Amino acid sequence: MRSLPTLLRTSFGASRPGARSYKAFRAPPIFTSVSTNSQNRMASSQASVFGLQDPSLIKFQGFIDGKWVDAKSGEKIVVTNPATDEELGTIPEMGVDETKEAIEAAKNAFPAWSRTTAKHRHDLLVKFFQLMQQHHEDLSRLITLENGKALADAKGENAYSASFFEWFAGEAVRIYGEQIPSAFPGTRNIVIKQPIGVVAILTPWNFPSAMITRKLGAALAAGCTAVIKPPPEAPFSALALAELSIRAGIPPGVINMVTTQKHVVDVGRELCESHIVRKVTFTGSTPVAKTLYKMAASTLKKISLEAGGNAPFIVFDDANIDEAVDAAVVCKFRGSGQTCVCANRIYVQSGVYAEFTSRLAERVAAFKLGNGLEEGVTHGPLIHRRALEKVERHVNDAVEKGAQVLVGGKAIPNSSFFIPTVLSDVPRDALINTEETFGPLAAITKFETEDEVIRLANDTDVGLAGYFFSRDVGRAWRVAEKLEVGMVGANTGFISQASIPFGGIKESGLGREGGHGISEYMNEKLITFGGLGW
Ligand code: SIN
Repeated sequence: MRSLPTLLRTSFGASRPGARSYKAFRAPPIFTSVSTNSQNRMASSQASVFGLQDPSLIKFQGFIDGKWVDAKSGEKIVVTNPATDEELGTIPEMGVDETKEAIEAAKNAFPAWSRTTAKHRHDLLVKFFQLMQQHHEDLSRLITLENGKALADAKGENAYSASFFEWFAGEAVRIYGEQIPSAFPGTRNIVIKQPIGVVAILTPWNFPSAMITRKLGAALAAGCTAVIKPPPEAPFSALALAELSIRAGIPPGVINMVTTQKHVVDVGRELCESHIVRKVTFTGSTPVAKTLYKMAASTLKKISLEAGGNAPFIVFDDANIDEAVDAAVVCKFRGSGQTCVCANRIYVQSGVYAEFTSRLAERVAAFKLGNGLEEGVTHGPLIHRRALEKVERHVNDAVEKGAQVLVGGKAIPNSSFFIPTVLSDVPRDALINTEETFGPLAAITKFETEDEVIRLANDTDVGLAGYFFSRDVGRAWRVAEKLEVGMVGANTGFISQASIPFGGIKESGLGREGGHGISEYMNEKLITFGGLGW
């Protein structure tokens, strides 16, 4: 397995020898009432369409208390490949009852799990990490099949995803307490850290694997147990992780997964309002984050929210243009623009505007759009038609207001593919400058001065990531400090790694993940000892 930065940087434009060619397929019909044997046969025939080396990584059931389970109603959700619109398989349409069972299982598993030694949890997380490396090809292929991102990009995600288990294995054995000098004679203050309890993890489809491990790694390392609600659009990576957790030796009930689509609001409410669940952690949109925040308020739960961004990407006249163009390609078009930290608004100073714009357009025109499993494909589809419609709306709005289409500008009819697009002369009042596009659209706006661009960059309710390019050290400090975001890329368009405090300010969310994020899964407890007798 190549290193994470190499995988991510080569995701764009590199040909990938060894990538398998894609074969069209259709899953067999689904019956709801069948015997276990025929269910197993059916599952294995469905699994075969994924073309994995280890088909037993494919699961079509939820995971509660160490068992694979169907929805009580027998209902199923059909999951499709966004590149082909073909059915990949089905997962159970679970609801509140199954969620309660999962919470109960996590509650029952908590006492024993929370008392394991940090070294034991470290060892299991290392094993989990190694299993993800061992199954790197299969897990990456799975990400491409369900999310659509190009295989090299999916390989980057799997490496990134596994790295959270490695990172938090290290954090597990460094959960230190504190001794605080006491104000009173004969007493001592000690602070210990204890796992918070049952954690609810709600994750999005844009990183079907990594957004789980970033949260689950911290939860497991801290000694918490978890109920996970994976995205219904891309649930198979999550279920494969559940399978690997068994192989890693994580005990039943420590990790539970409830799959749902139709009942998502009720399941979310149950997780947020349960008196057993002590923490909710979510990655997704700002409106959903606000809803969960309100729901979790009823039990005053600890909550981490990684919500939407609207990242500015600023190129000053004194930038290294080669580096800025390379960075824009990765930062804007990674996952076809479907990451919360993707550049959304590209501001370029007038002195380098023409050069940057034409060079970026040239690079984007060379992308190869298609099924991410096919040789040479650099960019895949959007997750579904709704996502595509938003990109279309942003392009049309900008063009109506005077923007020029340099590359792309339209969708491929009857598909979820939007041609990677570069727009120049995008007016400041264009929708794209106020809303996150979440698609492959580079919208470039010209600016004149540093003060002006800082004002533009900060003129938004959200603040997740921001990027700028300048070789002036004084300016670099000024801009880095003035950008109202949680994470700044200074002369780089790529910041994501397990060791950093990932998170935003303003309406981009609460809390930090990765880095020292294990603290979000622990309570500090003060113990004041008296009676020392002196
Ligand atoms: C996200 O899009 O929410 C996460 C992006 C990342 O971790 O790089």
